[in-house]
Amino acid sequence: MLSELIYVSRRSTTCTDADVAQILEASVHQNSKKDITGVLLYSKSQFIQVLEGEAAAIITLYDHIKKDPRHHQILLVSLNLIEERYFPSWQMGSKNVGENYEFLTCLSNQEQIVFKQLLKGQESSKAIKIIHKIFQD
Ligand SMILES: Cc1cc2nc3c(=O)[nH]c(=O)nc-3n(C[C@H](O)[C@H](O)[C@H](O)COP(=O)(O)O)c2cc1C
Repeated sequence: MLSELIYVSRRSTTCTDADVAQILEASVHQNSKKDITGVLLYSKSQFIQVLEGEAAAIITLYDHIKKDPRHHQILLVSLNLIEERYFPSWQMGSKNVGENYEFLTCLSNQEQIVFKQLLKGQESSKAIKIIHKIFQD
Protein backbone atom coordinates (compact mmCIF):
# COMPACT_ATOMS: atom_id res chain seq x y z
CA MET A 1 0.00 0.00 0.00
CA LEU A 2 1.67 3.17 -1.20
CA SER A 3 1.34 5.78 1.53
CA GLU A 4 2.42 9.29 2.48
CA LEU A 5 3.27 10.47 5.97
CA ILE A 6 3.72 14.10 6.96
CA TYR A 7 5.02 15.25 10.34
CA VAL A 8 6.30 18.47 11.85
CA SER A 9 8.84 18.86 14.65
CA ARG A 10 10.90 21.44 16.49
CA ARG A 11 14.56 21.50 15.56
CA SER A 12 16.72 21.12 18.68
CA THR A 13 18.84 24.18 19.46
CA THR A 14 21.88 21.90 19.40
CA CYS A 15 21.10 20.70 15.85
CA THR A 16 23.63 22.49 13.68
CA ASP A 17 23.57 23.02 9.92
CA ALA A 18 26.24 20.31 9.74
CA ASP A 19 23.78 17.98 11.52
CA VAL A 20 21.10 18.77 8.94
CA ALA A 21 23.58 18.04 6.15
CA GLN A 22 24.42 14.74 7.85
CA ILE A 23 20.71 13.85 8.24
CA LEU A 24 20.17 14.50 4.53
CA GLU A 25 23.18 12.48 3.51
CA ALA A 26 22.07 9.50 5.66
CA SER A 27 18.50 9.86 4.38
CA VAL A 28 19.43 9.79 0.70
CA HIS A 29 21.52 6.68 1.31
CA GLN A 30 19.09 4.81 3.59
CA ASN A 31 15.81 5.77 1.91
CA SER A 32 16.86 4.54 -1.52
CA LYS A 33 17.39 1.06 -0.05
CA LYS A 34 13.81 1.07 1.26
CA ASP A 35 12.20 2.68 -1.81
CA ILE A 36 11.27 5.69 0.33
CA THR A 37 11.08 9.15 -1.22
CA GLY A 38 10.16 12.53 0.19
CA VAL A 39 11.32 15.94 1.24
CA LEU A 40 12.57 17.75 4.33
CA LEU A 41 11.76 21.42 4.80
CA TYR A 42 13.68 23.10 7.58
CA SER A 43 14.36 26.40 9.26
CA LYS A 44 16.43 27.28 12.34
CA SER A 45 13.62 26.07 14.58
CA GLN A 46 11.48 23.58 12.66
CA PHE A 47 11.27 20.57 10.40
CA ILE A 48 8.49 19.38 8.11
CA GLN A 49 9.06 16.03 6.50
CA VAL A 50 7.10 14.11 3.86
CA LEU A 51 7.82 10.38 3.61
CA GLU A 52 6.41 8.35 0.71
CA GLY A 53 6.60 4.58 0.28
CA GLU A 54 5.09 1.33 1.49
CA ALA A 55 3.10 1.98 4.67
CA ALA A 56 5.14 -0.43 6.81
CA ALA A 57 8.44 1.04 5.62
CA ILE A 58 7.55 4.68 6.28
CA ILE A 59 5.95 3.94 9.67
CA THR A 60 9.06 2.01 10.75
CA LEU A 61 11.27 4.90 9.59
CA TYR A 62 9.04 7.47 11.31
CA ASP A 63 9.28 5.51 14.59
CA HIS A 64 13.08 5.54 14.18
CA ILE A 65 13.27 9.26 13.32
CA LYS A 66 11.09 10.14 16.34
CA LYS A 67 13.86 8.92 18.66
CA ASP A 68 16.43 11.27 17.10
CA PRO A 69 17.52 13.94 19.66
CA ARG A 70 18.12 16.47 16.91
CA HIS A 71 14.42 17.30 17.06
CA HIS A 72 11.49 17.09 19.50
CA GLN A 73 7.76 17.87 19.80
CA ILE A 74 7.17 15.61 16.84
CA LEU A 75 3.58 15.81 15.61
CA LEU A 76 2.10 13.45 13.06
CA VAL A 77 0.12 15.63 10.65
CA SER A 78 -1.25 12.94 8.31
CA LEU A 79 -0.84 9.39 7.09
CA ASN A 80 -2.71 8.68 3.86
CA LEU A 81 -2.90 6.08 1.14
CA ILE A 82 -1.80 7.59 -2.17
CA GLU A 83 -2.11 6.55 -5.81
CA GLU A 84 1.23 8.01 -6.83
CA ARG A 85 4.18 9.81 -5.32
CA TYR A 86 4.55 13.58 -5.36
CA PHE A 87 8.35 13.27 -5.09
CA PRO A 88 9.27 10.12 -7.09
CA SER A 89 12.79 11.29 -7.88
CA TRP A 90 13.77 12.56 -4.43
CA GLN A 91 15.31 10.09 -1.95
CA MET A 92 15.13 13.11 0.33
CA GLY A 93 14.85 16.54 -1.19
CA SER A 94 15.52 19.48 1.10
CA LYS A 95 14.78 23.15 1.31
CA ASN A 96 15.59 25.79 3.87
CA VAL A 97 12.34 27.75 4.19
CA GLY A 98 13.82 30.49 6.37
CA GLU A 99 12.62 31.69 9.72
CA ASN A 100 9.90 34.01 8.48
CA TYR A 101 9.14 31.92 5.42
CA GLU A 102 10.69 34.68 3.35
CA PHE A 103 11.35 32.15 0.61
CA LEU A 104 7.68 31.35 0.24
CA THR A 105 6.81 34.13 -2.17
CA CYS A 106 5.54 31.44 -4.54
CA LEU A 107 2.54 30.88 -2.26
CA SER A 108 -0.70 32.83 -2.32
CA ASN A 109 -1.91 34.45 0.92
CA GLN A 110 -4.34 31.58 1.44
CA GLU A 111 -1.61 29.00 0.88
CA GLN A 112 0.67 30.82 3.34
CA ILE A 113 -2.08 30.58 5.97
CA VAL A 114 -2.44 26.82 5.35
CA PHE A 115 1.36 26.44 5.51
CA LYS A 116 1.58 28.28 8.84
CA GLN A 117 -1.19 26.06 10.23
CA LEU A 118 0.72 23.03 8.96
CA LEU A 119 3.77 24.17 10.93
CA LYS A 120 1.58 23.95 14.03
CA GLY A 121 0.63 20.38 13.11
CA GLN A 122 -2.75 21.11 11.56
CA GLU A 123 -3.77 18.77 8.77
CA SER A 124 -5.04 20.11 5.45
CA SER A 125 -5.87 18.30 2.23
CA LYS A 126 -3.96 21.13 0.51
CA ALA A 127 -0.73 20.62 2.50
CA ILE A 128 1.00 18.22 0.14
CA LYS A 129 0.23 20.37 -2.92
CA ILE A 130 1.65 23.42 -1.13
CA ILE A 131 4.83 21.56 -0.16
CA HIS A 132 5.14 20.37 -3.76
CA LYS A 133 4.75 23.95 -4.98
CA ILE A 134 7.53 25.12 -2.65
CA PHE A 135 9.80 22.49 -4.22
CA GLN A 136 8.98 23.51 -7.77
CA ASP A 137 9.79 27.12 -6.98
C1 LIG B 1 14.20 15.73 11.03
C2 LIG B 1 14.89 14.42 10.75
C3 LIG B 1 14.60 13.73 9.59
C4 LIG B 1 15.24 12.52 9.29
N1 LIG B 1 14.92 11.85 8.15
C5 LIG B 1 15.51 10.66 7.89
C6 LIG B 1 15.15 9.91 6.73
O1 LIG B 1 14.33 10.31 5.90
N2 LIG B 1 15.80 8.72 6.54
C7 LIG B 1 16.73 8.24 7.40
O2 LIG B 1 17.26 7.15 7.16
N3 LIG B 1 17.08 8.93 8.49
C8 LIG B 1 16.49 10.12 8.76
N4 LIG B 1 16.86 10.82 9.88
C9 LIG B 1 17.99 10.33 10.68
C10 LIG B 1 17.59 9.21 11.61
O3 LIG B 1 16.95 9.73 12.76
C11 LIG B 1 18.86 8.41 12.01
O4 LIG B 1 19.83 9.27 12.54
C12 LIG B 1 19.47 7.71 10.80
O5 LIG B 1 18.47 6.93 10.15
C13 LIG B 1 20.64 6.78 11.20
O6 LIG B 1 20.18 5.83 12.10
P1 LIG B 1 21.18 4.80 12.80
O7 LIG B 1 22.16 5.65 13.55
O8 LIG B 1 20.28 3.97 13.71
O9 LIG B 1 21.78 4.03 11.69
C14 LIG B 1 16.21 12.01 10.20
C15 LIG B 1 16.49 12.71 11.38
C16 LIG B 1 15.85 13.90 11.67
C17 LIG B 1 16.15 14.65 12.93
